[in-house]
Amino acid sequence: MKHQREILRGVEGYVPGEQPRMANVIKLNTNENPYPPSPKVIEALRKLPAEALRKYPDPLSADFRAACAERYGYPGPEWVIAGNGMDELLALAVRAFVDPGDDILSTYPTYTLYETLALLHGARPVLVDLDENFQLTEAFFNTQARLCFLPRPNAPSGVCPPREAVERLCREFNGIVVIDEAYVDFSDDNCMDFPRRFENAIVMRTFSKSFSLAGMRIGTAAAQPPIINELLKVKDSYNLNVASQAAALAAIRDYDYMLGNVAKVRATRERLAAALRAMGFSVPASQSNFVLAQWSGTPSAAEIFAALRGRAIIVRYFPVRRLENALRISVGTDAETDALLAGLREITGQGLV
Ligand SMILES: Cc1ncc(COP(=O)(O)O)c(C=O)c1O
Repeated sequence: MKHQREILRGVEGYVPGEQPRMANVIKLNTNENPYPPSPKVIEALRKLPAEALRKYPDPLSADFRAACAERYGYPGPEWVIAGNGMDELLALAVRAFVDPGDDILSTYPTYTLYETLALLHGARPVLVDLDENFQLTEAFFNTQARLCFLPRPNAPSGVCPPREAVERLCREFNGIVVIDEAYVDFSDDNCMDFPRRFENAIVMRTFSKSFSLAGMRIGTAAAQPPIINELLKVKDSYNLNVASQAAALAAIRDYDYMLGNVAKVRATRERLAAALRAMGFSVPASQSNFVLAQWSGTPSAAEIFAALRGRAIIVRYFPVRRLENALRISVGTDAETDALLAGLREITGQGLV
C-alpha cells in the first residue's frame, strides 16, 4: 500500500481524469530519457512473430544475459540476472538475503523504495544521514546490517560518492552490498568491476534511463555466480516478457546509440545547472540525468513547484526533511529546458529585466 502511494506521488500532476488537460505537459519528474530508444529496438519489436507471442518467454533471458556479460566484461551469463525493471531486482535481493527482523542499511536521503521494501518484508530500515555535501559519513561505515542499498550516483542529489568509498564499504560491510547504478551511464565512472573483486557486491542497472526504455521494464544485476543463483531461485518464472527480452537485446547491442543520447543529456545537464546557479539555486554537481535545485528564497520551493505545475511543467517536490527547500528536476530536451528556465525566471523574479 505504501509503495502504491509512492508511485502516485512519483507521477505528481497525473490526477486520474485530468490527463487530457495535461496533454502538453513538460514532464521532468521521473527522470525518463527525453530522447527515443534506438530505432533497432523498435525494429526488433515490430519483427516479433505471432508465434513468439503464443509461447512463454525464455525464463532465463539467456540471450540478453549473455550479451550483458560480454558488454560488461564478465566471464559468462551466470554472472548476470535480468529483471522486470531494476525495482524487481531490488525486491529479489531483499527476498533472497534478508530475514524479517534483519536490518537493511541505506543513506538519508535516498531512493524511497529501499525503505518500502524493508518494511514490506518486516525488516528494519536503517537510514544514516549523508553529510551536507551528500557524501557518506563515518557513522554510515560504522553501521552493520544484513544488506546495504547504495545508489551511485545518489538519488535525489545526483552526487556520486568516490569509488574508493564504495570499495571501503564492500571491504568492511559484513552483508550484501547492492550498488544501485540506475543513473551511472550519465556519470564519469562506475563500479561494474566490483563483483569480480568483492564476493558481497551486486551491481544493478536499469534500462529505464540511459536506454530510454522505462516502459519496457528491464533491469540487470551483476554479481558472482553463487549470488546470482540465489536471486534466480526467488524470481518469478517468466519475469521478462518476450517483447522486453527482444527490446533489451537490441538495446544492449546498439550501445553507441545509447551513448549518443547520454552525451546530449549530459551537455544539457551542465547548461541547466549553470542557469539554475545563475538564478540563485544551489545545485550539487550531478552525475545523473537530473539535478537537485536547492532554494532558500521566496517564493518557497513548494510554491515554485505549484507555480510550475500551473504552467504544465512537472518537476519533483519532496516535502520531507532536507529536501523541503529543493526541487528535483529531470534533464529534458533543450526546448523543454528552455521552457523550464523561462518559467522559473518568471516565478522567482530572477533574471527579469
Ligand atoms: C535510484 C533508482 N534505482 C532504481 C530505479 C528503478 O528503475 P526501474 O525503472 O528499472 O525499476 C530508479 C527509478 O527511478 C531509481 O531512481
